[in-house]
Amino acid sequence: MKVTVVGAGNVGATCADVLAYREIANEVVLLDIKEGLAEGKSLDIWQKAPINLYDTRTIGATNDYSKSSGSEVVVITSGLPRKPGMSRDDLIGTNAGIVKSVTENIIKHSPEAIIIVVSNPLDVMTYQAHITSKLPRAKLMGMAGILDTARYRAFIAEALNVSPKDIQAMLLGGHGDTMVPLPRYTTVSGIPVTELMPEEKLNAIIERTKVGGGELVKLMGTSAWYAPGSAAAQMVESIVRDQKEFFRFVFVWMESME
Ligand code: NAI
Ligand code: 2OP
Repeated sequence: MKVTVVGAGNVGATCADVLAYREIANEVVLLDIKEGLAEGKSLDIWQKAPINLYDTRTIGATNDYSKSSGSEVVVITSGLPRKPGMSRDDLIGTNAGIVKSVTENIIKHSPEAIIIVVSNPLDVMTYQAHITSKLPRAKLMGMAGILDTARYRAFIAEALNVSPKDIQAMLLGGHGDTMVPLPRYTTVSGIPVTELMPEEKLNAIIERTKVGGGELVKLMGTSAWYAPGSAAAQMVESIVRDQKEFFRFVFVWMESME
């Protein structure tokens, strides 16, 4: 099982690291346009293998898509992240061109691959990859639902002082400030969250979730990577192990794609 991650920046390298240490793939190719970056990070992840005890091989490449040939899943994280004061939509101009050329290269070398787009603005970049690749919607999707739902679940777990593992939640809409967390489908070990906290507290969590990405951009000067990289790796895992995890994908299917 071979998986390629395009973009060896914060999100891409985190995703490759999780894919490796959780042995989700046998081979992970990390690819970037910046000379040496992907090779260096892949080597670093490989040198961690004897410490964390995994045998996934990690290979780095500078813009050489022949190394990605035959990948079953490709994750696209290449492109600019937000800076404070920017909206995700401010990235369209630069990232659309990057996602288009990356998608063309992926399809050329791995025509059977399933593609997961992470680059922002996520909904538009996923559509860009769709019109470039002409893949059907079952083979082309964006990562946002797991991340946005994870933020919502983490805030609820903190507010109730319970384990995040006990929170089941659903969130709809695009990856932006207009996303819609759904309290009616949010439970804590099966108990409706609406029975466990007052409406105002839950509404405050919903509003914080909607701008969860922006909160981190303000704190760090760039966008988040640990949760996004892990979320993308979790999607890969669900695909390669055929885990039939409906809830992870319901948010990212785009009805317009077929
Ligand atoms: P980063 O700046 O750390 O890494 C981006 C990498 O892409 C850089 O290493 C750069 O050299 C590379 N790159 C640029 N053009 C390329 C090309 N043509 N081919 C190959 N590599 C290329 O950025 P970070 O933090 O990793 O974020 C990456 C993208 O993911 C951004 O657009 C960001 O907004 C988005 N993002 C999306 C999330 C989501 O929920 N969907 C969550 C977090 C980030
Ligand atoms: C996030 O939500 C910036 O889309 C990225 O963290």
